[in-house]
Amino acid sequence: MRVFVNKRIPEIGLKIMKDNGLDVFIPENDNLSDEQWLKYCQDSDLILNVGFHKFDRDFFEQCPNLKAIALLSVGFDHVDIKEANSRNIPIGNTPDVLSVATADTAFLLMQSVARRSSFYFERVKNGEWGDFDPLFALGQELTGKTLGVFGLGRIGFEMAKKAKYAFDMNIIYHNRNHNEEAEKELDAKYVSFDELVAQSDVLSIHANFKPEQSELFNAEVLKKMKPNAIFINTARGGFQNEHDLYEALINNEIWGAGLDVTNPEPMSKENPLLGLSNVCVLPHIGSATEEARNGMAKMAADNLVAFSKGEKMPNCANE
Ligand code: DGY
Repeated sequence: MRVFVNKRIPEIGLKIMKDNGLDVFIPENDNLSDEQWLKYCQDSDLILNVGFHKFDRDFFEQCPNLKAIALLSVGFDHVDIKEANSRNIPIGNTPDVLSVATADTAFLLMQSVARRSSFYFERVKNGEWGDFDPLFALGQELTGKTLGVFGLGRIGFEMAKKAKYAFDMNIIYHNRNHNEEAEKELDAKYVSFDELVAQSDVLSIHANFKPEQSELFNAEVLKKMKPNAIFINTARGGFQNEHDLYEALINNEIWGAGLDVTNPEPMSKENPLLGLSNVCVLPHIGSATEEARNGMAKMAADNLVAFSKGEKMPNCANE
């Protein structure tokens, strides 16, 4: 079976597929236009896809020979799973292997915003080291504060664990279900969404994104947060209304924001959030560690190899 891999991935994934008899195709120049990408998808049995191309009905209709897709991501909000199900197309994803890396990124953003690191780094680069000023641009300490986790699954758990052990933070969370492990090990407390919003000193989003949650964090919700609160999002940018986030920040309704995901992506360099000193933005690099990317490449390859042998994918997003 021919596998189209749309970008270079760690060697381990390519080796697994080749060793198992798959005919792996990666274009020489992997900076593909949407048209080229679609054409290669149409010519393949299997796809190992990097990035967030839309896999919707229109796509599936244009690729009648496609048999399976392995995503190089845990998130699959860009795939119409119902449509894939109706065509018996399994969609593999990569849970667990990127949980630590993504939680590390949320943790990094939390500290970076709390201590205004991007602001100070800009000043140093601009030759504005400044004198020791006891009152200038002070940060806040995280020790003993309350971390609110929206979506306490694998990544949320890793974030909560780091916050608990590094800063002795109190953990509250809102989730579809209770997370007994977090309650037992981290003394995490389940709260309603409104309580989460009102009580968090840091609110960190780790939920899977669903279309009905589009811009859930809007003016109405942000107004209910504490004025010292830090908003962190390493999940999906669709959770936030960025106009409202900007207003909340400039009106001191919240204290700062750390975003690894934006709405839309990529964030325009004209986005006013980038002009604020209490905002830190990263370009969706949550899983960008060697360990996570190797794990993701292996998992995606394992998914396709299993499918090619007539087995169930070990990590499959289909309901
Ligand atoms: C994922 O896996 O869903 C991440 O957002 C990509 O790194």
